[in-house]
Amino acid sequence: MNPKLIDGKATAADITSEIKKRVSELVQAGHPPPGITVLLIGDRTDSATYVSMKQRACQDIGFVSNIIKYPKDVDEDQIVKKLNELNSDPLVHGILVQLPLPPHLDEKRITGLISIEKDVDGFHVINMGKLAMKGHEPNTVPCTPKGCLELLKRYSIPISGKNAVVLGRSNIVGIPMALLLLNENATVTICHSKTENIPEICRTADILVAAIGRAQYVKRDWIKPGATIIDVGMNSIPDATKKSGYRLVGDVDPDAYDVAGMYTPVPGGVGPMTVAMLMQNTLNSALKWYATTAHE
Ligand code: GUN
Repeated sequence: MNPKLIDGKATAADITSEIKKRVSELVQAGHPPPGITVLLIGDRTDSATYVSMKQRACQDIGFVSNIIKYPKDVDEDQIVKKLNELNSDPLVHGILVQLPLPPHLDEKRITGLISIEKDVDGFHVINMGKLAMKGHEPNTVPCTPKGCLELLKRYSIPISGKNAVVLGRSNIVGIPMALLLLNENATVTICHSKTENIPEICRTADILVAAIGRAQYVKRDWIKPGATIIDVGMNSIPDATKKSGYRLVGDVDPDAYDVAGMYTPVPGGVGPMTVAMLMQNTLNSALKWYATTAHE
């Protein structure tokens, strides 16, 4: 097999430059630039890295972005107060609370307080519920699974009628990914920590989405020849040859690639698409706001 790389980095760069152009036209037409505020709570280095990647993308595109940092022992009432303020701020079109939260904070309450129009992560229970129900249209779809779907579409990978296997059932990736594939008429199986015979189920997959958070967990003999592998994993493993002492790997063992028809690499696959989809969700949120509000 001669597998083809799905280039998430290049695709994300194309999408980002389309958004940048659109933003400059909107600003020239007299609209305020799309604005996003990110709440970063605690001192996790992975969260800080993700947030700074998001901020860099916002700055490059011409969004107004603001990061508000809180210590890991912040009082929940302070977050609630800030979210209420941001919900009514006309210059903020998107609000994002970086997850995971410190354990004393109630994630369900906090994500549920963001107005659904500004929920650029798509994590609000109403947006997720609408994604799950036929005949409903969510305001926004979570960025990582949306980015995976966008890659499948841009690379013309057939979905309808195909077997899709999603490894992982998180609210952020696994569940919305399975729903998006179902909405595209795939036959979807979700595997999780209690699933028996995961390798056997993976071998049925025309599309395999790995979002289980375990370094190089998916092995070569789990792949159906010609399948598409979408690797959402972002795991750091020790590597003495690197200055940092570690390197990033996905959930799929690279030995599996040449059995596949197409695959996303790590890094440079799904990761950049997550950021691009956040930019797209924020732009869409601002466009809806411009359409409903007189702000001259
Ligand atoms: N933590 C890991 N991925 C995400 C994401 O897409 N959004 C937020 N808010 N937190 C995350």
